Amino acid sequence: MTDHVLIERPEAHPGVQVIRFNRPEKKNAITRDMYAKMTNALTVASSDPAVRATAFLGTDGCFSAGNDMADFLAFAMGGSMGIEVIEFLKALATATKPVVSGVDGLAIGIGTTIHLHCDLTIASERSVFKTPFVDLALVPEAASSLIAPRIMGHQRAFALLAAGEPLTAGEAVDAGLIWKIVGADAVERETLALAGRLAKKPPEALRIARDLVRGDRSDVLARIDEEAKHFAAQLKSAEARAAFEAFMRR
Ligand code: COA
Repeated sequence: MTDHVLIERPEAHPGVQVIRFNRPEKKNAITRDMYAKMTNALTVASSDPAVRATAFLGTDGCFSAGNDMADFLAFAMGGSMGIEVIEFLKALATATKPVVSGVDGLAIGIGTTIHLHCDLTIASERSVFKTPFVDLALVPEAASSLIAPRIMGHQRAFALLAAGEPLTAGEAVDAGLIWKIVGADAVERETLALAGRLAKKPPEALRIARDLVRGDRSDVLARIDEEAKHFAAQLKSAEARAAFEAFMRR
């Protein structure tokens, strides 16, 4: 495993586990190894009483540029997609303790859809949320095709997921994708403080409140699988391969 994802338990915030993207040279693009490490961290969080909240963070000016394009291309060329991304999405969707995220800058593809599974997201004003799935000849993932229309309505979900229109941080707040905006230099501090406050609450009451607010997740899990079938088929298409090759050639 690489250190492209760091798992931390900051002393200043007891009960908080941080999952930090740490691949700034590749805009925190997420590889199969990185998904596996994050799944493991989420699994540990569910069973370890010392973890009461998880916080996703990126690096200065970049949360994540989404799935690694080289991994997409490898699959398009006949390789295995692996199960890492689906395992990660399911671990995230079924996480039993609060998950928060802090975004500064780029949030692309799964770097955007991940927040649909977070309970609270803080972002800097300069953040941009975008899912260019269709431009890459792909389809929405992470059950975003189910959750996004529910929270933001058809038109905004279509603009984001099908038309690939970017959302500013302000638009993301209005759409209900994220909770609030802070200065870029405050994202990490505020995200950790928020997770720390959640970690101090009575855990059983918080678990029940969270379950009630989120509702049953079986439809979310089913949609992750349904989207994944289309996603895998499209990844093998000539139009997707052309898009990945064009990106790699830039
Ligand atoms: N997968 C793999 N590598 C990626 C990547 C991704 N998703 N996004 C960025 N990178 C790499 C670039 O290839 C480049 O690597 P290099 O320096 O070895 O050439 C490095 O990160 C910096 O990216 P660059 O494109 O030079 O930075 P930029 O500021 O000009 O643009 C983005 C940033 C994110 C807008 C642009 O890189 C991009 O569009 N990335 C693809 C995003 C995407 O479509 N993700 C999949 C969603 S489903």
